[in-house]
Amino acid sequence: MQDFRNKHCKNEKGGFLVLKIAVLGCGRIGRMHAENIAAHPRASLAGVFDVHRPAADEVGSKLGARVFDSAEAVFASVDVEAVLIATSTPTHADFLEQAVASGKPVLCEKPIDLSLERVNACAKVIGGTKVPIMLGFVRRFDPGHRAARDAIRSGEIGELHQVVITSRDPGMPPVAYAEASGGIFRDMTIHDFDMARFILDDEVTEVFATGSRLIDPVLMERLGDHDTATVVLKTASGKQCIINNSRQAVYGYDQRVEALGTTGMVVSENRRPNMTTLHRADFTGRGAPLLNFFIDRYAEAFMAEIGAFVDAIESGKSPEVGFEDGRLALVLAEAAIRSVAEGRSVKTSEIG
Ligand SMILES: NC(=O)c1ccc[n+]([C@@H]2O[C@H](COP(=O)([O-])OP(=O)(O)OC[C@H]3O[C@@H](n4cnc5c(N)ncnc54)[C@H](O)[C@@H]3O)[C@@H](O)[C@H]2O)c1
Repeated sequence: MQDFRNKHCKNEKGGFLVLKIAVLGCGRIGRMHAENIAAHPRASLAGVFDVHRPAADEVGSKLGARVFDSAEAVFASVDVEAVLIATSTPTHADFLEQAVASGKPVLCEKPIDLSLERVNACAKVIGGTKVPIMLGFVRRFDPGHRAARDAIRSGEIGELHQVVITSRDPGMPPVAYAEASGGIFRDMTIHDFDMARFILDDEVTEVFATGSRLIDPVLMERLGDHDTATVVLKTASGKQCIINNSRQAVYGYDQRVEALGTTGMVVSENRRPNMTTLHRADFTGRGAPLLNFFIDRYAEAFMAEIGAFVDAIESGKSPEVGFEDGRLALVLAEAAIRSVAEGRSVKTSEIG
């Protein structure tokens, strides 16, 4: 592994240590990451690669970054100190293995893979590596959710008993996306499973889930998927968490976390473009609708995630959200899928 900590390089970004990160995948989220890296005071964009060359060319020319001809060229380049994987999900595990083999620290978008078997095989291949691996569970870096977690850890609500996570998309994804998504639990709830682990700070041992086909029953039936879901999680010490998901909240992207403890409650609320309230004779309420979707809602968090990645490499500490967190979130997804199929609560020990 290249020793980033000992480099003491300074560049045009004001004398900060700067990590040169290349981005694999220039789709919806890859371009956003590339822009964030280019704009980040402690990172620079070492280049981009996409199998769809025009996508990489567009990002490369917009941001003045090198366009690589292959992923192998990225992993072999001495000008690349770290890699961010933002390609389609089925490529993540292979690229993670290649990143580790090349010794380059890696920030990988969620999920590691849709198959727990593949994730476990990947864990074997990379087992024991010292190469930093960070998983893109971006919501951990949301200032509101993080402040809620910090309040709980510092004892401000006493002993934690219950958590409620509301996570609703503004509308159904495109059909092609839904077809390749792996289903609501592996695709959407995966973020909430990680948020539950982050807030509970205790391993989940039991999962009960129920799913319905209320928004697009025909499509959901064809895919064997659900568009509306509720999950109940329980930890070994008895803490509970309820996750409620919908693929369609007509009022916008609804993202809230609430935690109840013995001495109080902490709530991480929705974000809006402004906090203005409207007051009329017959109405008092908020003027501005919720921020549109994840790229807007979690904009600050996506930037903070890049900072946390650089921090981890610079400090030599493990990234605070890593491969095992990605694997455990998928274990909870598999438990939820089994729970829906079998109509019973499932112990995580049954999943492995
Ligand atoms: N953290 C989050 O909130 C969040 C949000 C959206 C997507 N994601 C994840 O990010 C990943 C990408 O999602 P997206 O919405 O940007 O998808 P996308 O389809 O818009 O982009 C994926 C890109 O990867 C490229 N690609 C595919 N195979 C490749 C390969 N072998 N080598 C190089 N490039 C390759 C495609 O050409 C495409 O440009 C997915 O795994 C998704 O689950 C995470």
